[in-house]
Amino acid sequence: MMCGRWAVAAAVLALMLAAGPAAAKKEKEKLCDKGWECKGPSKYCCNDTITDFFQVYQFENLFSKRNAPVAHAVGFWDYQAFITAAAVYQPLGFGTTGGKKMQMKEVAAFLGHVGSKTSCGYGVATGGPLAWGLCYNHEMSPSQDYCADNYQYPCTPGAQYHGRGALPVYWNYNYGVIGEGLNIDLLSHPEFLEQNATLAFQAAMWRWMNPMKKKQPSAHDVFVGNWKPTKNDTLSKRLPGFGATMNVLYGDLVCGQGYIDSMNNIISHYQYYLDLMGVGREFSGDNLDCAEQVAFNPSGKSATS
Ligand SMILES: *[C@@H]1O[C@H](CO)[C@@H](O)[C@H](O)[C@H]1NC(C)=O
Ligand SMILES: *[C@@H]1O[C@H](CO)[C@@H](O)[C@H](O)[C@H]1NC(C)=O
Ligand SMILES: *[C@@H]1O[C@H](CO)[C@@H](O)[C@H](O)[C@H]1NC(C)=O
Repeated sequence: MMCGRWAVAAAVLALMLAAGPAAAKKEKEKLCDKGWECKGPSKYCCNDTITDFFQVYQFENLFSKRNAPVAHAVGFWDYQAFITAAAVYQPLGFGTTGGKKMQMKEVAAFLGHVGSKTSCGYGVATGGPLAWGLCYNHEMSPSQDYCADNYQYPCTPGAQYHGRGALPVYWNYNYGVIGEGLNIDLLSHPEFLEQNATLAFQAAMWRWMNPMKKKQPSAHDVFVGNWKPTKNDTLSKRLPGFGATMNVLYGDLVCGQGYIDSMNNIISHYQYYLDLMGVGREFSGDNLDCAEQVAFNPSGKSATS
């Protein structure tokens, strides 16, 4: 069922296996169910959970301009939606892996992607270009209808598959596969992603936590150290760190092209958030960029285009 030219995108399907390598050795680990925001049981919930180190004021600092009059999704995004969405993924390790510093870094990394992809801070915006994350919740002037022939995820008549969400989703097949992952019919109702901030964050977290293809790592895996590069990975300059998260999510749209603006912009958001969260950009980690990385999935057909 995964053949043909949409194989790369369809491969996101594989993701459903995805509790990740850690799931296999779950037995014998102490299981916890700490607080409403980490519904378990899970070994990941024994340590701090996200609300222990990331609170409303920090969210407000990171996204300080999102409700400015000129923003495009005023009143849509809020902290509660982020935390409610995270409750689904914290038991799988999102923001709960590796001790407090790594946990904070993962939240900064995830939100760095989100902030950069939803920013309207280019140019001369007040507060600086990095203060404008979560300015959008959907693409303003779609240049095409993003409907591709797809046997498994055919377009619903009348539905529009332009970019929506916290890590914007484009194309019918991506709405289809992510909807399947979330058990919500996004193929029939892509508009849900611009109507429900919790769902928008959940869709983004699902993408962060799941690989694009079977046997590949997720963005989460490459960031928190769950992933061991193969010889091929090493030859392709793919190494664990923030750089590889861009490779997983965007492939050669962002990676392997030197120090291009689209890559630098994502890194800048990550580091800005590290500073604001009190971690500090000096802890950005090794392999911060993907300027020389070969894409995990060459071709540019990734879920965010
Ligand atoms: C819990 O925290 C400890 C100490 O910070 C860390 O070594 C361990 O990896 C954490 N547990 C999980 C499941 O991440
Ligand atoms: C928004 O999405 C969340 C998560 O899928 C769901 O629990 C909630 O009921 C939705 N809210 C509305 C108003 O549909
Ligand atoms: C390693 O890369 C080579 C060349 O790109 C490819 O032919 C081979 O299948 C890869 N091996 C694995 C195990 O992915």
